[in-house]
Amino acid sequence: MSGKNIPVGSIVLLGAPGAGKGTQAKLIAGHYGIPHISTGDILRDNVARGTELGRKAKRVMERGDLVSDDLVNGMVADRIKQPDADRGFVLDGFPRTVAQAEWLDRELAAKAGEKKQTVVVDVDVSYNQLLQRLTGRRTCPVDGKIYNIYLQPPKNEGLCDVCGTQLFQRVDDTEEVISERLKSYERQTKPLEDFYRKHGRLRRVNGEQSVEKVMADMFRAIEGARLRQGLSD
Ligand code: AP5
Ligand code: MG
Repeated sequence: MSGKNIPVGSIVLLGAPGAGKGTQAKLIAGHYGIPHISTGDILRDNVARGTELGRKAKRVMERGDLVSDDLVNGMVADRIKQPDADRGFVLDGFPRTVAQAEWLDRELAAKAGEKKQTVVVDVDVSYNQLLQRLTGRRTCPVDGKIYNIYLQPPKNEGLCDVCGTQLFQRVDDTEEVISERLKSYERQTKPLEDFYRKHGRLRRVNGEQSVEKVMADMFRAIEGARLRQGLSD
C-alpha cells in the first residue's frame, strides 16, 4: 500500500510523555508522505534559537508544565497552513487540553475543503514503562532519530546509527521534571480521552509492544477510520 498521494486528513496521537508518540508519528508521516507536527519539537527549536516564543516557553517546559493554549494554538495554526500539510498531517503532542481540542475542531472545520474527521489514536503505556522510556531516551540532534539506552540502543554507544552524530538527552528527561510532566498529563491531557470518546473518535492502541507491532496496530486504526469516512483508496 503506497500512501504518498492519497488524502489522509488530520491524525492526532494522544498519550503520556514517553508513550512513543514521536517514534510512531515519524513512521506514519513517512508512510503517507505528510508532515509530522510535534509541538514539543517546535517549542524546543524556538528555545534553542532564542526566539520570543522560545523565551516565553523555556521556563514552563523546564518545570514540566504546559505552555499556554494561546501560544501553542498560534504555532499550530501557522504550521498547518503550510502547503506540505494540504493532504494531511500527524499531530504529536497536540492537542493536550480540552480547550486546544475544541480550538482544533473549529480550525479544521474552517479550513477550506476539510471534510474529514480527525483520527485520534491514544497510545497506552503503563507508568513504570514510561519512566524507563523517558530516563533512557537519547535523540539525534541532526535527524531527530529517537533511541533508548535500555530498550532501543544505538549500534555504537552514544552515536546515531544513521549519521554518527553524538546523541543528546532532553533537559526535561530528569526524574524530577518527568514526575511533573506526568502530573500535567494526568490533570490536563487525560480528560481529552473522554472528550474524543464522547464524539466516537477515540481509538486505542497498546503501546507496550515492539515498535513494529505498535505501528501495525496504528495503521489498522488509521485505515479503519479512513475507510469509515469513505477515504480509502
Ligand atoms: P513533548 O515533546 O510533546 O513531550 P511529551 O508529551 O512529554 O512526550 P515525549 O516526547 O516525552 O514522548 P513521546 O510520546 O514522543 O515518546 P518517544 O517516541 O520519544 O512536549 C515537551 C514539553 O513541551 C511539554 O512538557 C510542554 O511543556 C510543552 N508542550 C508540548 N506540546 C504542548 C501543548 N500542546 N500544549 C502545551 N504545552 C506543550 O519515545 C520515548 C522513549 O521510548 C524513546 O527512548 C523511544 O526510543 C522509546 N520507545 C518508543 N516506543 C517504544 C516501544 N514500542 N518499545 C520500546 N521503547 C520504545
Ligand atoms: Mg515526543
